[in-house]
Order: sequence, then structure tokens, then C-alpha cells
Amino acid sequence: MDFRLSDEQQALQETARRFARSEIAPAAAHHDQTGEFPRAIIQKAWELGLVSTCIPETYGGVGLSVIDSCLAVEELAWGCSGMTTSIMCNDLGLMPIVIAGSDEQKKRWLEPCAADFKLVSFCLSEPEAGSDVAGLQLLAERDGDDYVLNGTKCWITNGGEADVYTVFATSDRSSRHKGISAFVIARGTPGLSAGKKEDKMGQRASDTRVVHFDNVRVPAADRLGHEGEGFKIAMQTLDRTRPPIGALATGIARRALEESVAYAKERKAFGFPIGGFQAVQFLLADMAKDIEAGRLLTHQSAWMVDQGLRASKYSSFAKCFATDVAMRVTTDAVQIFGGNGYTKEYPVEKLMRDAKLMQIYEGTNQIQRLVIARELLKE
Ligand code: CAA
Repeated sequence: MDFRLSDEQQALQETARRFARSEIAPAAAHHDQTGEFPRAIIQKAWELGLVSTCIPETYGGVGLSVIDSCLAVEELAWGCSGMTTSIMCNDLGLMPIVIAGSDEQKKRWLEPCAADFKLVSFCLSEPEAGSDVAGLQLLAERDGDDYVLNGTKCWITNGGEADVYTVFATSDRSSRHKGISAFVIARGTPGLSAGKKEDKMGQRASDTRVVHFDNVRVPAADRLGHEGEGFKIAMQTLDRTRPPIGALATGIARRALEESVAYAKERKAFGFPIGGFQAVQFLLADMAKDIEAGRLLTHQSAWMVDQGLRASKYSSFAKCFATDVAMRVTTDAVQIFGGNGYTKEYPVEKLMRDAKLMQIYEGTNQIQRLVIARELLKE
């Protein structure tokens, strides 16, 4: 067992770190306040090979392993998790094509995303089916060589900005998961439209919307896998994308720790820097220890995915643990900053707002516990 990073991994980490410090962090407060979408910044990240990283080299991509993408994501999220969510959403949307696309489909959808800057959305959640994926209602009715899609998706990251949408729809609602298929749809397809942008508590740089499907005609050739395989494709996708969510959460938490340590050295109370008091030292120690544990679980789960091992339980360990850590650490960071921490003059209130979303998206942490418990009971 060797915990050291290779030279290539260190170089990747350094590229992402420099980009986060020079381009992301300085713009984070502006995009947080305005909710303006940081397209130009994300495009620059793409130029550095930090976006759509799951596209295999055979299809023109950088083909990062999941563990390598975790290394990059932690650095980017240190700068701004909202921007990083939009960046990572490309891999979430492309992963079903990587997993289940035919060679022809991979050429048609992956190669253009490797050759040009494009944004991708993963359309799974619905107003009445978030945690319960098998209960989704978006209807895909077969009509000759096409499917016709009708319904609504919600909480769709990059929903108003995407060039490509990976969409999960059912041909038979009563069949639950067995009726679901996955489709790839291009922006501009008649009937596909994005609704209002959500006015979110945190991660305000990312674009989150409702997406409507009004008689959207999709050729059967753009269905991934066989009819009815969509649910498993979605689950296999989430197994692979949850470790990077752990990395994203670790980036938020690490930033909160670094800000807290710097503040604890400067801020004085009772005539001494507050870092001299055990009350603050113990908070800092717990933050550092928990961040390290979250990172280790994240890297272990990513390694398992990269080895082709069944990783559901470990991906859920990482997602659940690291995102709970991010919530705890950012809350404690606000505590260390005291009244200052509760104002927008200081960076930690944004980190706390951003961290909350991590416990909710890509499967709530209650769903992660459900996945873990089911795997335990199956063993
Ligand atoms: N890999 C392969 N197959 C899997 C699987 C996996 N990880 N998990 C389940 N399956 C299979 C099962 O073996 C079963 O197969 P059979 O039909 O052959 O028996 C089938 O799929 C159905 O599985 P379950 O009975 O376990 O399904 P369920 O309906 O009881 O529950 C669930 C599944 C875990 C609760 C699932 O619905 C779930 O993960 N929900 C959370 C959804 C989620 O994470 N959404 C995130 C949206 S994306 C997002 O948030 C991102 C963003 O904005 C940036």
C-alpha cells in the first residue's frame, strides 16, 4: 500500500490548485452574490483539461481515473464549490454514455464534448421523484423509430446552459425501475426547454433549473443500452460519481479549516490569539482529523471504482461521511469566527451555505445510509 501520489497526479493537483487560486477563488464572491453563471471560467478550466475528464482517450478525452478526478475536484472546490458542481456535472452527464453507450454513440456524443467546450446535464430527479428514482414519471412513448418524451425534471444542474442532456424516462410507470430507459438529447431539440433558475441558499454559481419536455422526439438510436436498462445505468453512474462528491466536500471543508487556522492565529481575545485556547484548538483538531478521514474514504472508494470493483457501499461511505464532515467543519468555522463569521465580509458563511447542498444532492445522506445498510444486509 502506497499513499504517495505519482508525479503525474501531483502535476494534475498543482494545475487545479493554481487555477482555483488564480481564477476561481477571486470570482467566487461575485458569482455567489449575483448568481451569474461563470461560463468563461468553466471554459478556461476545460482548456486545462479539468472538465469532462471521464471521456476516454480513445474518444479524444483526457480519460482521468476516478481517483485522479477526485484530486482535481478537491482543489477546484477549495476555490468555489458552486463552480465545481457545474464542472463536475459534465462527468455526471457523460458517465451514462461512457458506461452504456455503443461505440457509435460514444463517437457521436463524447467526441464533440472532448473537442469543444460543451456543458452537460444529468436529468434524473423530478418534482415527485427525487430519492425514489424508480417512481419517476417522465413518459417516453414509443412511436415508430422514435420515442416521444413528456414531463418535467427538476434540480437539474447546468439545466439552462447545457448542450447535451442525459435523460431518464419511463415507458411504463407501473413497472417502476424496469420501465426506465436512458436517452441522450441535444440542446435545441424541439419541445425541450429550461424553466426558471432556482434562487438557492448556496452554490449559487451553479445553474439549477427545472427542465420541461413537451413532445420531445428522440430517435431510438439515442437510447443508451436496451429499453428498461436506464435505472441500472443511473445507479452505476452514481456509484462512480459519488466519490468525487466526497472530494468536493473535502475541498470545502479544507478551505474552512485553512481560513479558521489563519483567523485563530490573528484574532485576539482576553489578550491572546484565540488559537492559544483549547476551546478553539479542539475544534481545529477535530476539523483536521475528520477532513483527513473523509479524504481517505473518498480515495479508497475512487480506487475501488477504478479497479472495477463493486463500490456502491464505499461510494456511499465517502459521499455521506465527507459531506457530513463538510457541514460540521464549516459550521465550526463560523463558530470560530464568531460574529464575523456570520457576515459576508468573511468567507466562512458562504462555505457553510455551500456545504448544506452536499448532504442533499447526488442522493441525500439518508439515501446513502439506506444503500450502505442494504449492502450490509446482503453480505
Ligand atoms: N448498480 C447496479 N444495479 C443496481 C444498483 C447499482 N448500484 N443499485 C440497485 N441496482 C439494481 C438492483 O440490483 C435491482 O435489480 P433487479 O431488478 O435485477 O433486482 C434494481 O436495480 C432495483 O434496485 P432497488 O430495488 O435497490 O431499487 P429501489 O427503488 O429500492 O432504491 C435507491 C434504489 C438506492 C433508493 C435509488 O432510488 C437511489 O439511489 N436514489 C437516490 C437518487 C439520487 O442519488 N439522485 C441524485 C440525482 S443527481 C444529482 O443530485 C446531481 C446534481 O444535481 C449535481
